[in-house]
Amino acid sequence: MHLGVGLLVLITTLLLTDAAAKSDAPSFVVGKGTFLRDGKPFRYISGTSHYWRHHHSDWEDNFNKMRAAGLNAVSTYISWNLHEPEPEQYNFEGNLDIRRYFRLAQKYGLVVILRPGPFIDAEVDMGGLPYWLLRMNMTMKLRSSDPSYTQYVSRWYNKVLPYLKDLTYANGGPIITVQIENEYGSYPACDKVYQNLLKSLVLQNMGPDIVLYTTDGCLDYMMQCGKVDGALTTCDFGAGENAAGNFQTLRKFNVDGPLVNSEFYPGWIDHWGYTWNTVAYQDVVRTMADMWALNASFNIYPIRGGTNFGFVAGANLGNDFQPVTTTYDFDAPLTEAGDPTEKYYAIRNLIGTYWPLPPGPAPVPSAKGAYGKVQLSYAGSLFDNLKALRPEGPIRSAYPLSFEVLEHPYGFVLYRTVVQGRFRDPAKLSIAGIPGFTPGLRDRGIVFVDQKPVGILSRTEQISDMSLFIAPNQTLDILVHNEGRICYGTGINDLKGIVGNVTLDTVVLSDWAMYPLELPNFPDMNPAPLDFDLREKISDIQNRISGFYSGQFSVNQVLDTFLQVSGWQNGYAFINGNNLGRYWPVQGPQQTLFVPAAYLHEGTDNVVELFELEAAPCSLDWTCVVEFVQVPVLNATVPIYPGANEFRKRAKQPWRAKSKQG
Ligand SMILES: *[C@@H]1O[C@H](CO)[C@@H](O)[C@H](O)[C@H]1NC(C)=O
Ligand SMILES: *[C@@H]1O[C@H](CO)[C@@H](O)[C@H](O)[C@H]1NC(C)=O
Ligand SMILES: *[C@@H]1O[C@H](CO)[C@@H](O)[C@H](O)[C@H]1NC(C)=O
Ligand SMILES: *[C@@H]1O[C@H](CO)[C@@H](O)[C@H](O)[C@H]1NC(C)=O
Ligand SMILES: *[C@@H]1O[C@H](CO)[C@@H](O)[C@H](O)[C@H]1NC(C)=O
Repeated sequence: MHLGVGLLVLITTLLLTDAAAKSDAPSFVVGKGTFLRDGKPFRYISGTSHYWRHHHSDWEDNFNKMRAAGLNAVSTYISWNLHEPEPEQYNFEGNLDIRRYFRLAQKYGLVVILRPGPFIDAEVDMGGLPYWLLRMNMTMKLRSSDPSYTQYVSRWYNKVLPYLKDLTYANGGPIITVQIENEYGSYPACDKVYQNLLKSLVLQNMGPDIVLYTTDGCLDYMMQCGKVDGALTTCDFGAGENAAGNFQTLRKFNVDGPLVNSEFYPGWIDHWGYTWNTVAYQDVVRTMADMWALNASFNIYPIRGGTNFGFVAGANLGNDFQPVTTTYDFDAPLTEAGDPTEKYYAIRNLIGTYWPLPPGPAPVPSAKGAYGKVQLSYAGSLFDNLKALRPEGPIRSAYPLSFEVLEHPYGFVLYRTVVQGRFRDPAKLSIAGIPGFTPGLRDRGIVFVDQKPVGILSRTEQISDMSLFIAPNQTLDILVHNEGRICYGTGINDLKGIVGNVTLDTVVLSDWAMYPLELPNFPDMNPAPLDFDLREKISDIQNRISGFYSGQFSVNQVLDTFLQVSGWQNGYAFINGNNLGRYWPVQGPQQTLFVPAAYLHEGTDNVVELFELEAAPCSLDWTCVVEFVQVPVLNATVPIYPGANEFRKRAKQPWRAKSKQG
């Protein structure tokens, strides 16, 4: 062969190969009325499942069940606060290993709809923003182009987005779309500079091929503020709503792109003290069928809700301050424990009429452990264990400091002062806020005089003062519980702890010692048996003291289970050192905490520990117990409440009501 010809052949071959590679390269774009995946019309039926709300050993099972129901996509937020718990300290391990999460989704044939926030709501603390932002500047304008805020957003996006770049669809990964902000039209800032900054950060870091979209409520004013040029406008609505009407409104902002419901609610969020929310499966499948007939894509939010382990839960601000329950069961198609429900099977049957389901039988509920009753022993009061809980000792300051300033994100701070001078009997203790930050107590304070509990102040109940008698040189302690930062609306600069001054009658109390409690140190404590002296000590104050209780139990077969805490009042439960989250059975409706199998091991030395804040049922041995049960109870009746009916009606969707956004 002539050399020249050979070269020509070689060059031609290279060009052809290149052209072939180009047309074979994965592509995902927005077409007329539909998405185009590799050039072919594509629509998705997706399910939300937040990686951090499940133990990572459950991820594959979740994806498997999603696939088995005929879903072809998964949608998740990224919760910035968990990945950057303190400035520039990053965590992508274990339950936060998002690369592994997305790779597993791909293995199960699911494409990924990515919602990196940075604000996500998601009923998590501060809507997923790191609490330390408020330490940098407590009045920074979150979710806006305020440089006090965007300098940290840019730093985070420039960290996390390149980390995911090779996982985009164009690069052979599963990520098809990326959301800009989150329901931004529900937030009054309406700051286009901010939205465009986020857009350019995504494009710079993930490449120009990624499909961008926004999600808002299906109302004109929301989509008007929420939409971003160059991003597909989508909206969100729940089961039983008018799909045709909502999509008609969407069409004003999305003239000929694919119709998408980005959060199709098959259930609803729950708050402590409010009736358990349910949605009938008939409504879910009816609205699904309506959306399908309109050629829409949709995302079931959530397909499995999971659990607000530890201090993950946020709070909503309706007419009152409403902390979110530990369970994020949501009455979703898969329960908190991942078990298929009637709703799941109905959805699967319906999807089976749209496209073929993967071969194999439908998933069934998994076996649960019934490890029975566990006798707990008193392991000392909060005061006995202050050293273990705060090895460095207290932080001192003339006036109280917030959690943020104390560099303590979640949980508890004990505020202590020794009262000087004589006060009347009784004196009025009160905590006032400061302008822009009322009330001053965030969120619940248990008040002690010389370590005896004398009362409770509460943000939810709007109780910020009380009467007490305190003599000179007696110690006043206020144990402040951060019940979760506000995750929706304009109240998100939600500092915690005591924000303002504490007064007795007219005297401002000063010289405070503050103990941020490091609850993870709790499992290191040595639980003492409930001996006679200790029993005397706790029965002396009718067991009404913040204290630690601990017991061992044996597990012959490791299974998921539920911790039943009836008889206990309010606190946190730990299994083998893992924080299951808050329990509060007297408030309800949630009565049991989910315990993933991964927290247990075979053997007799499994440990359950409670940090009980208010009242232990331990005047008798046989009532000083918790129980591991097979069936969760999430829907108990809730206490009466002044104006309850009105409150509960509004509580249904308080933060989505138009009037609240003003
Ligand atoms: C904090 O943010 C507010 C609102 O943007 C701004 O006015 C103020 O100057 C900032 N403070 C500091 C110390 O940067
Ligand atoms: C849905 O798509 C099909 C196929 O492209 C089309 O024939 C039909 O008119 C569309 N239906 C609606 C309601 O847009
Ligand atoms: C309070 O304690 C201080 C220091 O121990 C002591 O000097 C003072 O007499 C005490 N006051 C009262 C009223 O007991
Ligand atoms: C607390 O009271 C002191 C003394 O009156 C005052 O100097 C300080 O500014 C007050 N702090 C707040 C946060 O109001
Ligand atoms: C809670 O749900 C169970 C199971 O669906 C039901 O039997 C029970 O009546 C419900 N309890 C309340 C108080 O609604």
